Amino acid sequence: MDQAPQITIIGGGMITQIQLLPTIYQLQREGLVGEIHICALNSPPILELQNDPVLKKAFPGQGFVPHPDPALSSPENLFPELYKEVLADAPRNSIAVVAVPDQVHYEVLQVALESQAHVCVVKPLVQTFAQAEEIGSIAYERGLVIGVEYHKRFDPRNLMARSAYREGKLGEFRLGQAQMIEPYYYRESNFQNWCTCENSDMFTYVGCHYVDLVAFITGLKPVSVSVYGIVDEYPNGNKGFLWTDGRVLWENGASLSVVDALGYPNAAAGGNAQGLTMWCQGSEDATLLVHRDQYRGVKHSYESAGDQPGDTVYAEPNPDYFQLLAQGGEGLLPAGYGHRSAEYIIRACCRVGAVESVEERRRLIRALDEDGIMATPANSSYNELVVEAARKSIQSGGREVLINYGEQPGIHFRDFS
Ligand SMILES: NC(=O)c1ccc[n+]([C@@H]2O[C@H](COP(=O)([O-])OP(=O)(O)OC[C@H]3O[C@@H](n4cnc5c(N)ncnc54)[C@H](O)[C@@H]3O)[C@@H](O)[C@H]2O)c1
Repeated sequence: MDQAPQITIIGGGMITQIQLLPTIYQLQREGLVGEIHICALNSPPILELQNDPVLKKAFPGQGFVPHPDPALSSPENLFPELYKEVLADAPRNSIAVVAVPDQVHYEVLQVALESQAHVCVVKPLVQTFAQAEEIGSIAYERGLVIGVEYHKRFDPRNLMARSAYREGKLGEFRLGQAQMIEPYYYRESNFQNWCTCENSDMFTYVGCHYVDLVAFITGLKPVSVSVYGIVDEYPNGNKGFLWTDGRVLWENGASLSVVDALGYPNAAAGGNAQGLTMWCQGSEDATLLVHRDQYRGVKHSYESAGDQPGDTVYAEPNPDYFQLLAQGGEGLLPAGYGHRSAEYIIRACCRVGAVESVEERRRLIRALDEDGIMATPANSSYNELVVEAARKSIQSGGREVLINYGEQPGIHFRDFS
């Protein structure tokens, strides 16, 4: 393939704005990818991306092809099927970046694979194991890459932990505690329209990060999930499981407790509260891993608070996730594990997409699966089993749901009879 592949982003929301689009603009600046198309449900998010002052400053002169075009469509018109046309019109070997609400991933993935696109999809891949298997096998059959964007995997502290654990330096995982408490003001955002009781919950939405990380670090599989959730009302009256307490048991008997919520005070200094502690059994002593992921040693006290929700005079910003930094030359350069993660996946798509032979593509896909650094349907569908189990558990007041692997992986309530 001699031309840089087109990128089609489906979904123009928060994650596109703060992470995916800046990374993709950077890859376009470097000549790795070609034209960028963005498709959203309606024009307001597209307009916001077009007018974003940070993106304009970081990537002067760059832009994207909008679907729908805000200049031609009124804000209230919805285009739920437009992405199908946009993907169908994309050249073969394009890359689809899927960043729509969780429950829409499956249908968008099907269309993306139908159009012969390689895929970078924000977590979670899909919401059930059966869907993950189906999507994974269609992609493999066609020689198309699917990378699931779990960016914490690219935080060096987690790569360090993975190496240390797998070298035997951290003993055997026994007990863990993790939390990810997202800001209270998220309740005001588009979340309230989709992250509702029937679609998702805080464990499913953000707890999956630390469940994935424990698997990423240790190589262990989760075998049991129970999640207790408290229902609260969003500002628009919709109801969501906005506070959750989950327990995940692992194949070696270890236990991880995970609390998640939209409950980090707007008045607090950081972006959220998040972290992981793992207590392990060593050969002669206990071993330990502690990651304090929200406070990374930076304190700022500004002249005044900014005008974005959650902005405070005294702040503890995270320098490691995603920053756009002046490093000489025109515009700003992305830095951080959020950038490296999306970049890694898109580079993998480009590498495999440049190969003609489907057999050779499949070999490269198998190598990515085996490396286990990038999450793929083949190496991370335990996440879909956990999500399925969590949804069943939380809807039943926290009953324990077991995961079975083997010939036909699946989930079922624990039977105490
Ligand atoms: N830490 C992470 O990895 C992380 C963080 C945030 C979000 N996410 C994931 O990213 C996804 C999107 O989250 P977000 O916070 O950006 O949500 P959001 O609500 O801000 O944006 C969703 C976007 O999807 C678009 N959309 C919905 N239906 C569509 C359709 N039929 N066709 C085209 N566009 C459509 C909407 O227009 C909107 O622009 C979710 O799956 C979420 O779980 C991951």
